[in-house]
Amino acid sequence: MVFNHQNILLISFLLTITTTLTYVKASEESNIISRFQQYLQTRTDHPTPNYTQSTNFLTTQANSLSLQSQTIEFVSGKPLILLKWTGTNSNLPSIMLYSHTDVVPAEHDKWDHHPFEAHVDDEGRIYARGSQDMKCVGMQYLEAVRNLKGWDFQPKRTVYLVFAPDEEVGGHDGAEKFSLSKVFQELNVGVVLDEGLASPDEHYRAFYGERSPWWLVIKAVGAPGHGSKLYDNSAMENLWKSIENIQRYRASQFDLIKAGLKADGDVVSINMAFLKAGTPSPTGFVMNLQPSEAEAGFDIRVPPTADTKSLERRIAEEWAPTSRNMSFTFKEKISVHDASGKPVFTKTDSSNPWWALLKNAVEEAGGKIRKPEVFPASTDGRFFRNLGLPTIGFSPMANTPILLHDHNEYLHKSEYLKGIKIYESIIKAYASFDEHGRDARSKDEL
Ligand SMILES: *[C@@H]1O[C@H](CO)[C@@H](O)[C@H](O)[C@H]1NC(C)=O
Ligand SMILES: *[C@@H]1O[C@H](CO)[C@@H](O)[C@H](O)[C@H]1NC(C)=O
Ligand SMILES: [Zn+2]
Repeated sequence: MVFNHQNILLISFLLTITTTLTYVKASEESNIISRFQQYLQTRTDHPTPNYTQSTNFLTTQANSLSLQSQTIEFVSGKPLILLKWTGTNSNLPSIMLYSHTDVVPAEHDKWDHHPFEAHVDDEGRIYARGSQDMKCVGMQYLEAVRNLKGWDFQPKRTVYLVFAPDEEVGGHDGAEKFSLSKVFQELNVGVVLDEGLASPDEHYRAFYGERSPWWLVIKAVGAPGHGSKLYDNSAMENLWKSIENIQRYRASQFDLIKAGLKADGDVVSINMAFLKAGTPSPTGFVMNLQPSEAEAGFDIRVPPTADTKSLERRIAEEWAPTSRNMSFTFKEKISVHDASGKPVFTKTDSSNPWWALLKNAVEEAGGKIRKPEVFPASTDGRFFRNLGLPTIGFSPMANTPILLHDHNEYLHKSEYLKGIKIYESIIKAYASFDEHGRDARSKDEL
């Protein structure tokens, strides 16, 4: 290239544009991160979440995006924020982008940075309680909507953004009451997106169902006796036999994961939560007495695909058999079936177009997604699946250690920004999808 006058002018013109674009991009980025930080700084931690703060913040965001907003309290002091982006064809079932505003408590002294400061370190990690579970997702929905609106995208389907309270304490005063409400019915929801989990590798994870908690307490009785005497059928011996049996079953399930044959959510997990036995004395326990009663409690998690009849038989015949003077109760037993007796999970085959749409949208935005899994614990998604609605658990966090409920929960800035692009792609695909027939069918089948 010859450096004549014109060329030099052209080059300096181009340089100015590039610098300006870089500058605009950087300041846009810092605004995005700053909004995320503001949401993370709201003190919605249990046991006393301040929902006034999150409600104020979210309604301000909604106003700045010209989204209709409504604050609903099914239980006083526990607001659910419902935002609406009206579609051009309101006859089509709507899209619901769901998140919860509350977070679990944090032990400040175990953190490197204050859990509600949302400190960004030199590497770009944003430290805060809720950075993974799940203020990231709620805020990414809003940022994606902001960008789509900025590009004049018109949704065909109405898009709802829901920010619910109380997920971390069971969701009964938030998601559950909402899912059973007239308000919800009138939204004519066709598909729900809720939370997933971070993924340590480059593949995003998605969840089509979740395990149901069965909290089992088994109790043994037996003749009491002197601590020095060997005799059969003491309460302790009876309980001990069950514990051995349960441990063998636990190992067999764990082996399936260790061998790579099954994912965490696909096996029955069982862990001992308590052991209660012994005769108290002023110094601890009476040591020369075999007690007449002994109890143990177990947290069992059952996948929707499990053979529950055989598990129930196992409990009655092997873990707490009456022949060994044992009995059992459940402190909690959530059915893996819905009211009509079908296992509660969202199909990910060709009968459910929402799965294929999500997968393609993620891939179009440059993401990779793993085979869908069963969520190992519980989320609010179950309340919507119970209604037969396709519900996919998805939190776009790849290359990220799973730190939900842990100390030093963080999300890297670049993963957060990438997630916004992913949601732009998903919302675009979902809100544009318009095949009346298929909608009706997918709902019937689920
Ligand atoms: C909750 O937050 C609001 C708004 O920041 C504040 O005025 C109020 O005092 C807080 N409530 C409690 C109990 O801390
Ligand atoms: C069950 O309890 C009864 C009454 O205490 C006792 O006679 C019997 O031996 C016990 N049987 C077993 C298997 O523990
Ligand atoms: Zn969560």
